[in-house]
Amino acid sequence: MARSRGTRVPVLPGETVLRLDGVHQVYGSGDAAVHALRGIDLTVTTGEYIAIMGPSGSGKSTLMNILGCLDVASHGSYTLAGHDVAEMTENELARVRNQEIGFVFQSFNLIQRMTAQANVELPLIYGGVARAERARRASESLDRVGLSARAGHEPVELSGGQQQRVAIARALVTDPTLILADEPTGNLDSRSTDDILSILDELAAAGRTIVLITHEDEVAKRAHRVLTVADGLVVHDSAAVAA
Ligand SMILES: Nc1ncnc2c1ncn2[C@@H]1O[C@H](COP(=O)(O)OP(=O)(O)O)[C@@H](O)[C@H]1O
Ligand SMILES: [Mg+2]
Repeated sequence: MARSRGTRVPVLPGETVLRLDGVHQVYGSGDAAVHALRGIDLTVTTGEYIAIMGPSGSGKSTLMNILGCLDVASHGSYTLAGHDVAEMTENELARVRNQEIGFVFQSFNLIQRMTAQANVELPLIYGGVARAERARRASESLDRVGLSARAGHEPVELSGGQQQRVAIARALVTDPTLILADEPTGNLDSRSTDDILSILDELAAAGRTIVLITHEDEVAKRAHRVLTVADGLVVHDSAAVAA
């Protein structure tokens, strides 16, 4: 990637954020090979809020890992913010994961024994942001998810819904190009689920690009576009139907 650390190319509404062409993913080899993705084509533009649905084993997490640059596809191309992911070095992939993508996981993945504030600052530490700026941006991010009053609390002192709000604040703090959420409400009761979905609604309304994996209809219907995956292929795309 040509961009140096800290500089960002603004991505305008309706511009392509990412594009997958003929993406395959094979785990293992020979008789043991599992063909988890079998030719995924997908274009996501700025400001889209997309839900990916599909039965267990259909390839959702595999797709998420590729979108998040945690894994590189065994075949096909993936372009993120104009850059070919297959050509990136490990350092560039790490930079993209740190600065271009905000991850939200089912199990929150917060660091225990660190305050909410410190958890939210972490991506900025990796990104080399100075201390005062880190503190300011983390506070702003916690404020955005309504958790300013809990900034000094550790994860064990927070409810599941509050922990997920901290995780969303952490995902937002780098001002990422893309927010990726894998079953973000999977461990939450219905009230906390509502809170998290409302926050995602607000982020989408503010122009954020969100790709969310879920098996719950109630969650998927909040998104603007729903993709259904089965056996490693996109078998339904609500945008294609609407077009
Ligand atoms: N690391 C791995 N090694 C081998 N097979 C895997 C691995 N990860 C996923 N798979 C297989 O790939 C297929 C898709 O899995 P996954 O993407 O986790 O589906 P989903 O998230 O939709 O449940 C499944 O058959 C699964 O067993
Ligand atoms: Mg999965």
